[in-house]
Amino acid sequence: MAMAARWTALITLQAVWACLCQAMQHYPSVWGHYDVCKSQVYTDEGLTWDYMACQPEATDMTKYLRVTLDPPNITCGDPPETYCALENPYMCNNECDATTEELAHPPELMFDFEGRNPTTFWQSTSWKKYPKPLQVNITLSWNKTVELTDDIVITFESGRPEQMVLEKSLDYGRTWQPYQFYATDCLDAFIMEPKTVHELTQQTLLDIICTEDYSRGYVWKYDKTVRFEIKDRFALFAGPRLHNMASLYGQLDTTKNLRDFFTITDLRIRLLRPATGATMVDEDNLSRYFYAISDIKVHGRCKCNLHANSCVFDKDRLACECEHNTTGPDCGRCKKNYQGRAWSVGSYLPIPKGTANICIPNNLGPVIRPNISSLGVANRNQDCECFGHSNRCSYIELLNAVICVSCKHNTRGQHCQHCKFGYFRNISAKLDDERICLASVMNGYL
Ligand SMILES: *[C@@H]1O[C@H](CO)[C@@H](O)[C@H](O)[C@H]1NC(C)=O
Ligand SMILES: *[C@@H]1O[C@H](CO)[C@@H](O)[C@H](O)[C@H]1NC(C)=O
Ligand SMILES: *[C@@H]1O[C@H](CO)[C@@H](O)[C@H](O)[C@H]1NC(C)=O
Ligand SMILES: *[C@@H]1O[C@H](CO)[C@@H](O)[C@H](O)[C@H]1NC(C)=O
Ligand SMILES: *[C@@H]1O[C@H](CO)[C@@H](O)[C@H](O)[C@H]1NC(C)=O
Ligand SMILES: *[C@@H]1O[C@H](CO)[C@@H](O)[C@H](O)[C@H]1NC(C)=O
Ligand SMILES: *[C@@H]1O[C@H](CO)[C@@H](O)[C@H](O)[C@H]1NC(C)=O
Repeated sequence: MAMAARWTALITLQAVWACLCQAMQHYPSVWGHYDVCKSQVYTDEGLTWDYMACQPEATDMTKYLRVTLDPPNITCGDPPETYCALENPYMCNNECDATTEELAHPPELMFDFEGRNPTTFWQSTSWKKYPKPLQVNITLSWNKTVELTDDIVITFESGRPEQMVLEKSLDYGRTWQPYQFYATDCLDAFIMEPKTVHELTQQTLLDIICTEDYSRGYVWKYDKTVRFEIKDRFALFAGPRLHNMASLYGQLDTTKNLRDFFTITDLRIRLLRPATGATMVDEDNLSRYFYAISDIKVHGRCKCNLHANSCVFDKDRLACECEHNTTGPDCGRCKKNYQGRAWSVGSYLPIPKGTANICIPNNLGPVIRPNISSLGVANRNQDCECFGHSNRCSYIELLNAVICVSCKHNTRGQHCQHCKFGYFRNISAKLDDERICLASVMNGYL
């Protein structure tokens, strides 16, 4: 038993060092998984839990959403209608009929599996009421905060819209903010200068842009997708192949605006003008103009404030499976009887395991743990907090962390906040007392 326990400690320690060293040598895949919330380690008090920042795996989020169309009766097929190919106004042999399964195009078909032939797709009614605008809102709701981890990709079966806005909500649909504008002519449509994501910098990352990259309407065989580029934005901090996620995580940790930018509860695709493929709309063949979408990709993870590594879909709703004695759909508060200090979001730092910031029982005094949340922001300059066991810190830029150097008095840790192995805490001593860590009596016998 004791042997096994020591093994665990050894392995854990080696793993940590291996990770730190490798991170510093730019081995990206080793750290930053944050897939474990706690692990058992051997200390002087025996086997105890070591808590770490953790988050659920990123996954295809379209399995968990509710879709709403506005206006509600905008889907084609009721009554049945025929529509024409955009390229060829004489090819009007396509039919939409809501009452016949093979000819119906309901919204669910935007989220089903593609790869079969022919593709399945949602389709709107055609632009019969021209010149009154043909506008559709497609709203995707998760009823849960979600962090986006990959590009949002909308694949059109029709020509791509000439004007479109992607919007997001962070408060379950009460308020909406634009994410990106799309148009064949940004100035004309939205009075915005056209930009591409590649023109953004770390300083302008949060700017909302209008792009003309995805709206060339007529090219409908090959260029079918409209994107919201998450990865290009991540790359501004993490490098072109996202090889330095440490830098990104460091930024996410300390910049709430940045974290919020990639966080959503709802998305709304506002289709404002269909592809017309020409300068003039052909009023004799309005059946050529409509929207059709075959696929929408949204990749992300439940936001659990770094207090859960899994998220379950139960009774039609997503919820984090909270650890660290936190609770709530996003692990956003401390459990009853665990409010010994204010709830705090976990931290990605220090890499690779982060800081759990667990909730502690009500009746325990202060624990030997520095206030990490205050360090997160100010650590670059001062905040060399070593509880008097060292007066020297080293700032490691790659890790965006300040680490105490040469902890004395038998202490160890980033802030000299732990006792060395073989030493235990002197309960009656203050954190900065030289006699804080006492040699284990047992140590002498072993
Ligand atoms: C779409 O949603 C926006 C708000 O995000 C609203 O102003 C607009 O009227 C809606 N359009 C339709 C067609 O429902
Ligand atoms: C949808 O419903 C509205 C109001 O109920 C009606 O004015 C409109 O004509 C309908 N549109 C279609 C395409 O059926
Ligand atoms: C959203 O989730 C909450 C719990 O987090 C639940 O009470 C509510 O009924 C859900 N709303 C919808 C529309 O599903
Ligand atoms: C489309 O336009 C052509 C020529 O203008 C006309 O012959 C044809 O009947 C129209 N098709 C439909 C479905 O209106
Ligand atoms: C809550 O804390 C107690 C004591 O600190 C611990 O034994 C228990 O496992 C924790 N629960 C969770 C769900 O982390
Ligand atoms: C941690 O530090 C922050 C910022 O200095 C402060 O607002 C917060 O109250 C502190 N939390 C605790 C538990 O001391
Ligand atoms: C523990 O710390 C207290 C307070 O500094 C000190 O008086 C006591 O001697 C220490 N205990 C041991 C065994 O050193």
